[in-house]
Amino acid sequence: MAPDDLRSWGHRSRTKQMGYSEKDWAGKPWIGILNTWSDLNTCHTHFRERAAEVKRGVWEAGGFPVEIPVMSLSEMFMKPSAMFYRNLLAMETEETLRCHPIDGVVLMGGCDKTTPGLLMGAISMNLPAIYLPGGPMLSGNWNGKTLGSGVAAWHYWAERQAGNISECQWRQMEDGYSRTAGHCMSMGTASTMTAVAEALGMTLSGASSIPAPHAAHARMAADCGRRIVEMVWEDLKPTDILTSRAFDNAITVDMAIGGSTNAIIHLVALAGRAGLKLPLERFDELSRTTPIIANIQPSGQYLMQEFYDAGGLRALMNRIRDLLNLDCITVNGKTVGQNIEQVEVFDEKVILPFSKPLSDAGATFVLRGNLAPDGCVIKPAAAEKRLLKHKGPTVVFRDYADMKARINADDLQVTADSVLVLQSAGPLGGPGMPEWGMLPIPKKLLKQGIRDMVRISDARMSGTSYGTCVLHVSPESALGGPLALVRDGDMIELDVDARRIHLDVSEMELGHRRVQWKPPAPRFDRGYGALFCQQMTQANEGCDFQFLHGGRATPDPDIY
Ligand code: FES
Repeated sequence: MAPDDLRSWGHRSRTKQMGYSEKDWAGKPWIGILNTWSDLNTCHTHFRERAAEVKRGVWEAGGFPVEIPVMSLSEMFMKPSAMFYRNLLAMETEETLRCHPIDGVVLMGGCDKTTPGLLMGAISMNLPAIYLPGGPMLSGNWNGKTLGSGVAAWHYWAERQAGNISECQWRQMEDGYSRTAGHCMSMGTASTMTAVAEALGMTLSGASSIPAPHAAHARMAADCGRRIVEMVWEDLKPTDILTSRAFDNAITVDMAIGGSTNAIIHLVALAGRAGLKLPLERFDELSRTTPIIANIQPSGQYLMQEFYDAGGLRALMNRIRDLLNLDCITVNGKTVGQNIEQVEVFDEKVILPFSKPLSDAGATFVLRGNLAPDGCVIKPAAAEKRLLKHKGPTVVFRDYADMKARINADDLQVTADSVLVLQSAGPLGGPGMPEWGMLPIPKKLLKQGIRDMVRISDARMSGTSYGTCVLHVSPESALGGPLALVRDGDMIELDVDARRIHLDVSEMELGHRRVQWKPPAPRFDRGYGALFCQQMTQANEGCDFQFLHGGRATPDPDIY
């Protein structure tokens, strides 16, 4: 029986304002559908239809659906980087769920930072939640050539800089690059993070591989609506699913798919929200025992469309089942083992046999040394092998503007053996740790046929990028980390097999430079930027805000 008070009367009368009768909602769980649709998020153009399909499922299962827009985090259109706002989406998600009458939630995301942002907030709120991955777009095509998101753009831009592609060809390519709704369809951050969400157990089984325009995607959306109602009655919450064993599954899958380096930062942040510590070493331990068997760009050859047709993530997980914790529970109420039971691989060129992997070790290695005392990462499968052990003199750019102004200058003292270093590109320096880590190869070297060099920064790089790029150097240069002390001509040694990065400068000299180093002036006096700078943690800590960890659980608001 509903309470006989003014507040309840207000809720009922306003719900009736939307055209609903009491029999539409009474006694039913209220299901929030958090929708990151926006005209400026081109990866989510199908989300209004998908939200309608989720509602269909919720109605059918006996729930009451309410759709709520949340921040869209468009990777392509946001300045300075969508990463700058990931934590804002996480906060918005958590507080939206806390302040509204919601019993369970379907989280609709896909474009890079939406997956971690939505999940971080939902974990902190800890209501029953399903993640609905937006799905990859279909493959691109230009004059009969397949175009992979990001990968093709980087590749053909380098060819254009080298004078091998005309402006007319470059413009024609725009028409065929992104041809349908959906997120980037290489194994970039979006495909990686949706796969990681599935491996964690937070999506319906098989959901992350379905291409966005496929009818199966619409059916999956309706299934999310049906299942979340059951989850509310079962009281199955994120913290029931997100154990340290589930995180090991996610890291193992990330390694086997050749996932984006960004996944490390997001997984550390997600684990933190679930009350778990995830040291960088765990990624390196699991990468040593997990081969890359997804032959997907940028490490491999194919795209997500072929991956889906080859059996998708469930088939891949079945292939590495001996490396997974099969007893972990997932949102559909079944275990990982039950979900992947007898799922076949249909194309062994795309999902490779365990015995013939793309690489014996996984996607991402963690390096340490005097240049990165708190660690940094590299994706060796996307690098030229000859550079994985390298020593060379540095060419240092003090920030992105400096790099852009000088990288193609004729008088830049650079050779193919140089090590390009970018400073001030980290969580605070960027700010927001933009995806600048794949520094462009200087034009004069491109014209000599050079396509890869050792590049080092405290930035991230797009999951679609490639090259010998050492990323996430921690602590970052804007905090006075050793990267800030590097000068032109210093020698740096990279030894990926030994997991080592070393700045060959004496401790005494580094001490002198440290004394001379001046911290940058504060960038923001007010607003979200100021909060960001006060609260931001470093890459090895997941770049979450300090005040979103620990402390007492936030109580639900009182209702009067
Ligand atoms: Fe949205 Fe790549 S731009 S996923």
